[in-house]
Amino acid sequence: MPIIAPSLLSANFLQLESACKMLNESNADWFHLDIMDGRFVPNISFGPMIVEFIRKTTTKVCDVHLMIEEPEKYAEQFKNAGADILTVHIEACKHLHRNIQQIKGLGMKSGVAINPHTSVSLLENIVQDIDLVCMMSVNPGFGGQKFIPQTIEKIKQLRKMCNDKGLQTHIEIDGGVTLENAQSIIAAGADVLVAGNTVFKAVNPVEVIAKLKGL
Ligand code: DX5
Ligand code: ZN
Repeated sequence: MPIIAPSLLSANFLQLESACKMLNESNADWFHLDIMDGRFVPNISFGPMIVEFIRKTTTKVCDVHLMIEEPEKYAEQFKNAGADILTVHIEACKHLHRNIQQIKGLGMKSGVAINPHTSVSLLENIVQDIDLVCMMSVNPGFGGQKFIPQTIEKIKQLRKMCNDKGLQTHIEIDGGVTLENAQSIIAAGADVLVAGNTVFKAVNPVEVIAKLKGL
């Protein structure tokens, strides 16, 4: 069964509390929290203060996806806000190994995100040090975009790399996940599905989460 991580980016922020309550009562496993700085990506979302409020509503895993430059400056703030997993972008880190050590040193699980154009081979020397790879299946910055089909091949490559190294690293797919394509994403080797619009724009989000979980 896949891990389901709905992205609150697509929620109605005036009703954030009820969105969190809905997720708590659903089959969702993780809360996926998208942090955007207007520099690494062309959009600004929210920061540690909102993460802290969300943290208070749930005991589920808070999976924080940093789409920001200089993530080392903010890692501690996100730890204090309650992040369980902190993911940084490979494209934003000159000293990725150091970033990972910092995150682990703060007591969080560590993730590395890669953009659609970024080769899986760049993970070769870091994948053994991390808990999760967040593979972007859209260009980061916005919810509601279309899944990029070449991602399927990249998932297979990464699953093979992890298998060859005997690693249990989570493979999380982020962007454009739908009820229609989720099965092929899992079949390719992913085990964590992020879903923003598919969940929050649905008439019955709880039912959609249950369907994703049942795949
Ligand atoms: C995109 C974010 C995603 C996004 C997913 O930059 O990282 O987590 O919110 O939203 P959907 O599922 O709507 O593509
Ligand atoms: Zn994300």
